Amino acid sequence: MKRLGLLTGGGDAPGLNAVIRAVVKTAAGEYDTEIIGIEDGYDGLLLPDKARRLTLEAVRGLQARGGTILGAANRGNPFARKVIRDGQEVVEDLSDQVEHGYKQLQLDGLIVVGGDGTLRIAHELEERYHLPIVGVPKTIDNDLGGTDVTFGFDTAFGTATEALDRLHTTAESHHRVMVLELMGRDAGFIALHAGVAGDADAILIPEIPFDIEVVCAKVREREAAGRRFSIVVVSEGARPAGGSQIYRTAGDAVFTPRLGGIGQQVGAALEQLTGKETRVTVLGHLQRGGSPSAFDRWLATRFGAAAARLAAEGRWGRMVGLRGQAIVDVPLTEAIAVAKRVDPEGEAICTARGLGIVFG
Ligand code: F6P
Repeated sequence: MKRLGLLTGGGDAPGLNAVIRAVVKTAAGEYDTEIIGIEDGYDGLLLPDKARRLTLEAVRGLQARGGTILGAANRGNPFARKVIRDGQEVVEDLSDQVEHGYKQLQLDGLIVVGGDGTLRIAHELEERYHLPIVGVPKTIDNDLGGTDVTFGFDTAFGTATEALDRLHTTAESHHRVMVLELMGRDAGFIALHAGVAGDADAILIPEIPFDIEVVCAKVREREAAGRRFSIVVVSEGARPAGGSQIYRTAGDAVFTPRLGGIGQQVGAALEQLTGKETRVTVLGHLQRGGSPSAFDRWLATRFGAAAARLAAEGRWGRMVGLRGQAIVDVPLTEAIAVAKRVDPEGEAICTARGLGIVFG
């Protein structure tokens, strides 16, 4: 019987538990393989007692549950970890401890479920220590290469669309401008998809630097046509032409910066320039929490089963993905080589422009 490790890294996304369940059920049912769940991402390989056998009993009923039963880590990358030495905070490379932890667990391979950062670490572990790894693409941002879509995205897109539906009714009643700030880091997929599905008037995304005057003109044009409210979607990574992104916290050698605040800035500018009363909503982690959509359960289950199959067959260094309707596998490097972004000239943007949506 083989023994495979399974960890979920980075920020959570709806569908992680469905992946875990599918990996365990497929490994047990088809390949007589035992799955060792590693807690809190790579941290579980750094510390003792952070791994446990995942039985069929342990994954029962997980399909619809949000979050990850394995936990996620907030302390960053094992290749650059903040530790206290002699009372001083220093950054150290703890990756050899990860390799040690892996060996201690006597694993035959590792399934890593994660986004860009987690899969990059997986690739480094492969390169440096020759750890046998299979990747599963996860992120609500949908910004990974090697797959048409990541699981988690559909749920976030649905939650954001529902928020826009709700904002519409109150915006219309109060004749206000409503600004909704959405997640996505440097990719505008959530904002674009939800903005179109939720009938926004302007969508500001990182891929298209905006001019606030264009958004103001749209608000005024609607007012003149008797439409006394407007809906503006702002991706957290959007920035004005010639300006920069807004961060809630600055990054450092270990942590990436946290985006946030552009919604407030756009809202304040719109109120000042158009004279229209404006309110700003930041949807935040509501996009990440809660039960996965039906599509994400379906995709996560297929990804999990495919990852268990790849690992059982010893096809390491691969990541599962979706191409059209088919589950495929690609080199792990393909996922991290080029970040996926909204094509500013693509069909989706053209369609939205054709509907009268402005992108600033
Ligand atoms: O990458 C997923 C994501 O949800 C981004 O959209 C967002 O910027 C970020 O994670 C927030 O992460 P944190 O968990 O640090 O708040």
